[in-house]
Amino acid sequence: MKNMLVAENVTKTFDGLVAVNRVNIVVKENTFTMLIGPNGCGKTTLINCCTGILKPTSGRVLFEDIDITGWKPHEIYRVGFVRSFQIPLPFIGLTVIDNVLGAMRNPGEAPFKAPLLKKWAHVEEENMSRAMDILARVGLEKHWDLPSSALGAAQLKMLEVAKGLSSGAKLIALDEPIGGVDPASAHEILSHVSRLKEEGLTFLVVEHRIDIAAPFADYIYAMELGTLISEGPPDKVLNDPKVIEVYLGKEVEAC
Ligand SMILES: Nc1ncnc2c1ncn2[C@@H]1O[C@H](COP(=O)(O)OP(=O)(O)O)[C@@H](O)[C@H]1O
Ligand SMILES: [Mg+2]
Repeated sequence: MKNMLVAENVTKTFDGLVAVNRVNIVVKENTFTMLIGPNGCGKTTLINCCTGILKPTSGRVLFEDIDITGWKPHEIYRVGFVRSFQIPLPFIGLTVIDNVLGAMRNPGEAPFKAPLLKKWAHVEEENMSRAMDILARVGLEKHWDLPSSALGAAQLKMLEVAKGLSSGAKLIALDEPIGGVDPASAHEILSHVSRLKEEGLTFLVVEHRIDIAAPFADYIYAMELGTLISEGPPDKVLNDPKVIEVYLGKEVEAC
């Protein structure tokens, strides 16, 4: 299986605080790869270093064997690696379908040339049907004409995924996709993600609620205090005493 994403010895420091410490991860093509660990252990920082929101202090990031270290987010987006945020950021004034159309690479927007291009109407039609198809794949087709501000938390997360799909993403990083949603909706979100994986996409998912998300994962990386402490298939990682101690142990304490 091909490597979609490789983070090699990635380190990120903030004024002396080592948020991510020489971390190595590989995301294989067509997998649901999960990144777990307690709050503050560096998961979001690592994703930010991979997607260009932050520049790693040291180390390298490769996407489909291209060195993308230090690239700008829009450049990384353009080669097919997109991310969603912990808090979804739709254009709330727009409808659901307009959000998806807006994320397309060629939305047919050339106001002066448009009337001269015979193909223009055709392109618009095609984009519309592609956008509807994408909405169906994430379960939002019935809500296509609602303002995105009318969507619930789970639907907003799926809108983020839909925007990723419409941009032609091959790898989608989701930061806490089921954060703040009820267990039934969480299951629905992950089922959609799983189905998209079956269609050929690759996902890197940061998630705190491992009880719900781990059954969907092919491979898990566990972090603590900026470093990787375990990796492997879910069974192996969730039974690793180090993981139980730092992560599951804390959940038990909190109960
Ligand atoms: N922009 C920033 N400036 C300073 N410190 C940060 C910044 N972003 C994250 N941190 C710190 O880095 C550590 C890791 O944070 P984060 O990556 O958000 O953890 P997680 O996503 O695992 O909860 C935390 O101690 C956090 O306070
Ligand atoms: Mg985070």
